[in-house]
Amino acid sequence: MRMSKPVVLTGLRANNELHVGNYFGALLPMIDMARERSSDYQINLFVPDLHSFTTPIDHSRLHQQILHNVRLYVAAGLPLDNSDIYVYRQSYISAHSELTWILDCFTGFGEMSRMTQFKDKSTKLGESRISVGLFNYPVLMAADIVLYDASYIPVGDDQTQHLEFTRDIAERFNNQFGQIFTVPLPVPKQHEFFGKDQGLRIRDLIDPTKKMSKSDDTGRGVIFLGDDPAVAAKKIMSATTDSYGEIKYDIQDRPGVSNLLQMLSLLTGEPLDAVIAEWEGKNSYGDLKKATAAAMADFLTGFQARLAAVDDQTLIAKLEQSEKILRETANATLLRAQKAVGLRA
Ligand code: TYM
Repeated sequence: MRMSKPVVLTGLRANNELHVGNYFGALLPMIDMARERSSDYQINLFVPDLHSFTTPIDHSRLHQQILHNVRLYVAAGLPLDNSDIYVYRQSYISAHSELTWILDCFTGFGEMSRMTQFKDKSTKLGESRISVGLFNYPVLMAADIVLYDASYIPVGDDQTQHLEFTRDIAERFNNQFGQIFTVPLPVPKQHEFFGKDQGLRIRDLIDPTKKMSKSDDTGRGVIFLGDDPAVAAKKIMSATTDSYGEIKYDIQDRPGVSNLLQMLSLLTGEPLDAVIAEWEGKNSYGDLKKATAAAMADFLTGFQARLAAVDDQTLIAKLEQSEKILRETANATLLRAQKAVGLRA
């Protein structure tokens, strides 16, 4: 059975605590959809747990981290008592792994080698630690998306190439075998859909030419959702800005200040244009930092209070219920693919 409402889907890996970049780039747009538009869209928010160890991790912590990340979704505002909203763990639905193998055999070695995330991460890891899993994880990500006929995928811009690959592999499969998969919308249409204020690339506070990333070793440039609000405020107060002496939104030339303006807009819910209009031309970077730091501390205080109140039993019941229903959907898509390639009559 194909889903009747358009499907909005995203996943956030559980290899580490989530940071505000993950929150603004993917979780917040998803939660907004879940809260405001679930009567028109089906919402699939999942933990891509099989993606957790494409790079080495501490496996003794993974199981806890997976559950913790689902709690973060709830603290971020995901309603659990709505049957149009699904929250699930990838590895509990085996069709993800099975479809990945089929798609692997239609994926070029060359096209995977060109993925910039693979190139970046493998350079950092060194040859002996690069796994085949890191190499072909975009294929698993494509399976995650096409299994549920998802059209809208809110992700940060580091995932753009993977989204384009998902479209390519879905189209390639459809061209060869007929209408098997729903092709997600092209990336510019995704951006139109989620709005221009989505935080597609939140930057590192110390080196704002880089994106904020879980793998920052010092932790000084990254704000984790579990950071003490006072510590997070201090991180913002020490953020790198520029020496122009006047506030201006210009991501290329003034990424530090632009990052602060963007975070302030996302934290307060004020449109970015309004925040820019309020601050541009002023010359106190300190005031902008103070306003952003205060908004961040307020946000984290509220978030962490909601996190402490999450009821695990309700959460686990919701996971199990979603997984039971979506297993059927995923298996139906898998069967279409199995039939197409000749594995089933
Ligand atoms: P992951 O777990 O690395 O990151 C989760 C989401 O956070 C976004 N993100 C950011 N957004 C804005 N600014 C930043 N600094 C920033 N850093 C990270 C990421 O773009 C992502 O949207 N492969 C995916 C997980 C995944 C997935 C999927 C996503 C697996 N299957 C299917 C969508 C659909 C990943 O590694 O994201």
